[in-house]
Amino acid sequence: MSVTTSPEATTTPSSAPRETPSITRSAAAARERTAVLEDLIARNPGEYRVLTGDRPTGALHLGHLLGTVANRVRLQDLGVEVFLIVADYQVITDRDDAGDLPVTVREVLLDYLAAGLDPERSTVFTHSAVPALNQLLLPFLSLVTVAELERNPTVKAEAEAALLRQKRGISGLLFTYPVHQAADILFCHGNLVPVGVDQLPHLEITRTIARRFNQRYAAAQPYFPEPDALIAPSTTVLGDDGRRMSKSRGNALELRASEDETAAFFRRARTDADRVITYEPERRPDIANLLQIGAYFSGTTPEALADEMGAAGAGRLKAVVTEAVVEGLRPLRARRRELAAAGPRHLAEILARGNARANAIADRTLDDVRGLMGMRY
Ligand code: TRP
Repeated sequence: MSVTTSPEATTTPSSAPRETPSITRSAAAARERTAVLEDLIARNPGEYRVLTGDRPTGALHLGHLLGTVANRVRLQDLGVEVFLIVADYQVITDRDDAGDLPVTVREVLLDYLAAGLDPERSTVFTHSAVPALNQLLLPFLSLVTVAELERNPTVKAEAEAALLRQKRGISGLLFTYPVHQAADILFCHGNLVPVGVDQLPHLEITRTIARRFNQRYAAAQPYFPEPDALIAPSTTVLGDDGRRMSKSRGNALELRASEDETAAFFRRARTDADRVITYEPERRPDIANLLQIGAYFSGTTPEALADEMGAAGAGRLKAVVTEAVVEGLRPLRARRRELAAAGPRHLAEILARGNARANAIADRTLDDVRGLMGMRY
């Protein structure tokens, strides 16, 4: 494919020293940039290649769908080429027991497909099946300093969580995983990465690595693009304990849940004592969360849904949201059941095709990289 260098490079303030990673580039700037990008994508989807993915730690939940999965499907349907990595090597960054990976990978794949990811147009693959991607980690590690990795706020936060959970220090793989993620993105010359704000520091490391590689080994003609973050439009989805929805917190509504489980989840969801429903994300996060979810599935805005509810109370709001989610997820859940019933062979074939495609691309990239580095003998 043609490698499109991000126009971002030309808008970086010229006062910034070239070798200083702009790790502090703000989320606000990324959001602004996202609006510009959306416009460019709509006009020229063929210029973009998306790379993003998930750790296979369990079936996907409502937070995944609203936060990123629906956005990926939207991009695919706009005509953007989408690569999805099932990041199995990332599962062992912070735990000893990766669980039953074949089962988990299958569940994630089912969720992707059920959500509308089309394996004819998009490529799904696993980390571990693409050796050349992993080998890119070696030259990439030489392009960053330990101090830069130590400054990464997301790694810091994850390290603290790992320390609390397992009472031990961080693994070398956790420390270096932003560099591994650069390999995930750059092996296929991905130039668009739809992520949450928490992943922005990682993307900054990817951009730094691309820039330094180009400066050091491909000065005449840049080899890697400096990918852009595409900030997901929706806000954080909360679990039934009022904290951010996450598999590891055990507070999630899985996409594959039954209608009864869905209703039970929303019965447990937190609310407040005020009968009048208003959309005030700062002051009433629990109510705002229900309004956001309900609005998403009924194609309206949280404000409009709040007006509609008026003084009906939180019980009524929960009933309305449950109904919207059950209805909204019905087609996805039906597709998921159908795919699961079709048996494991079909899914294995989809993954095998994705892995073969990723390998062909990764082999070529690694060969180019070795050539540029003077390591072709
Ligand atoms: N770290 C991401 C997560 O935990 C998953 C991931 C792996 C990823 N490689 C990536 C995301 C590359 C974006 C780009 O969800």
